[in-house]
Amino acid sequence: MNHNPTPFWVVIPAAGIGSRMAADRPKQYLQLGQRTILEHTLNCFLGRAGVRGIAVSLASDDPWWPGLACASDPRISRAAGGAERADSVLAGLERLAALGAADDDWVLVHDAARPNLADEDLQRLLDELGDDPVGGLLAVPAKDTLKRVGADGRVEQTVDRRPIWLAYTPQMFRLGMLRAALLGAAQAGAEVTDEASAVEWLGHRPRVVEGRADNIKITRPDDLEWLALRWDSR
Ligand code: C5P
Repeated sequence: MNHNPTPFWVVIPAAGIGSRMAADRPKQYLQLGQRTILEHTLNCFLGRAGVRGIAVSLASDDPWWPGLACASDPRISRAAGGAERADSVLAGLERLAALGAADDDWVLVHDAARPNLADEDLQRLLDELGDDPVGGLLAVPAKDTLKRVGADGRVEQTVDRRPIWLAYTPQMFRLGMLRAALLGAAQAGAEVTDEASAVEWLGHRPRVVEGRADNIKITRPDDLEWLALRWDSR
């Protein structure tokens, strides 16, 4: 048991539609075992000693959230989802600030559609970045041979995979730095696809912490089928 846990806040951007799942509802509300994906994702953080509070960014017309038991959990607050993931994360940060989060506090941003975050990965992220001046993210080294492919569908080049890592979540940054990075990148029109790329845009170099490859983001129907098989046999 960790007697001196790193305190942290959490933002779960959950305002996406997940159109590649081609389901009748956003992917975070699909069932995995006994609960929805979003409930499993939230459960990765609830119950951890260091959690100060969690903001979940939801679409304004989201009809599914109020039906979840965790919607009334006092540790979880709702924030307004935006047009882009970065807008949803910014709204979550503002919600946490309104709850008392300070600029120096750590915030972990984690995809709603990554329900299989292992507790030991979360602990390693907190342990390795707790004293870091920038912060960083869970990531997985590329394991397959990488090809750069032309518009004609033919290989142009085999890319050296050794320095290539896949960016996973949680991504862990201090609230003030992350807010400045996301706002600055938005004002400059820079494309940021995760929190780390916004912080990189500010000129910093986030650290990568190796995580488990099975912390997958459910994106396509076969991702959910794969995880459901593992879930039942856990
Ligand atoms: O679409 P994708 O899987 O890359 O989205 C990653 C995460 O960002 C998901 O949890 C999704 O709900 C969230 N998101 C959001 N607001 C958007 C777009 C995506 O909260 N406008």
